[in-house]
Amino acid sequence: MTIEPAAALVGDVAVPGTKSISHRALLFGAIADGESEIRRVGWSGDVESTARALRALGVRVEADGDDARVTGVGLRGLRAPREPIDCGNAGTLMRLIVGILAGQDGIFVLTGDESLSSRPMERIADPLRRMGARVETTDGHAPLTVTGGATLHPISYELPVASAQVKSCVLLAGLYADAGPTVVVEKAAQTRDHTERMLRSMGARVQSSPRQASVWPAERLAPLSLEVPGDFSSAAPLVVAATLLSGSELRIHGVNLNPTRTGLLGVLERMGARIAVFNRRSLAGEPAGDLDVRAADLTATTVTAEEVPSMIDELPLFALAAGMARGESRVEGAQELRAKESNRIETVTTSLKGLGIRVSASHDGFGVRGIPTRPKGGGMSSDGDHRLAMLGTVAGLVSREGVRLEDAEAVAISFPGFYDLLESVTKR
Ligand code: S3P
Repeated sequence: MTIEPAAALVGDVAVPGTKSISHRALLFGAIADGESEIRRVGWSGDVESTARALRALGVRVEADGDDARVTGVGLRGLRAPREPIDCGNAGTLMRLIVGILAGQDGIFVLTGDESLSSRPMERIADPLRRMGARVETTDGHAPLTVTGGATLHPISYELPVASAQVKSCVLLAGLYADAGPTVVVEKAAQTRDHTERMLRSMGARVQSSPRQASVWPAERLAPLSLEVPGDFSSAAPLVVAATLLSGSELRIHGVNLNPTRTGLLGVLERMGARIAVFNRRSLAGEPAGDLDVRAADLTATTVTAEEVPSMIDELPLFALAAGMARGESRVEGAQELRAKESNRIETVTTSLKGLGIRVSASHDGFGVRGIPTRPKGGGMSSDGDHRLAMLGTVAGLVSREGVRLEDAEAVAISFPGFYDLLESVTKR
């Protein structure tokens, strides 16, 4: 795909429902008692993988446009399929569902695509084994085998890496423990808390403070009825493009503004961005609101390790924004980027360098020497990573000569309508 330079983004849009919340609503709805109604699901490659996995486990998941109806089978009602469960590209699916499967009867084998099969899985197997679960990895990776039926004991676990997926996996297994509470301590920094909020709304006993979450064993979960707020991570490419394109005036409606997700907003604001939040409200037990983004000149900043989890999926976009900001920017404490859908420290720095941005990789992040002018542009590949495809697209819009983007369709993993929506607000 060739992305031509743009003059501005102007208009009003809404982005699809949050992927993280959509996965959780389907997964938790599946183990509730009764029917869950989930509106504005962020249907995408990853969320389809979750629906497929649940169907393979005997759960009825019906899609009706953007909505879904899930007929829960109760906390212990999932049935082991004969075939392996294919998690596709979805790390959130694989890491969360293992916590649930540890509490079921039967043997479950989980596989993933090439990218997912290269991502670390001992990080979930280790705490689950400490709880008494039987989980095997293949040299630390998928395929995974979970042999359910073991008695699970509560643990207190300090996360060795800041990961909401690992935290969620342990908390979900805690629902099945023979006593409570199961405690997860986040020493480094707080990660997204969608799991804690949603389980609490379903009647589970969950306590959380910024650095610690605890869950007690549950007898049952009440079904969900919710509307998923728009995905901040899908709004982020629009926010960055509108900030960087002079003359932009863009409104994005109904975006999830959970503070554990919106680190990019604070960082862009301190760089000089003009982003106003209005119509603040609550959607699905989560803060939400509308964003109004105007073009702005940016100055450099440093993103600290503590800020990283709240903008982990937006760091590729930050690199681009920093490339057009005045001065030297840095990201520290983000070694987790190496364990994403691609090694994002390498893929982000290599591709942006090729487009004329002065960025260099470090062991735990990157440094950027920004110049407040459009980068030249050129060619890059997403390497099958949806966030890289979004990055290449925004880079093309803000470039002088455009970007030839290979494997652009990878965006469908989280945001299938990305190009159409972008086109509807792009002024050339
Ligand atoms: C997610 C957590 C993050 C994030 C991923 C979704 C989640 O991963 O990068 O896109 O839904 O819990 P980690 O928890 O591994 O950092």
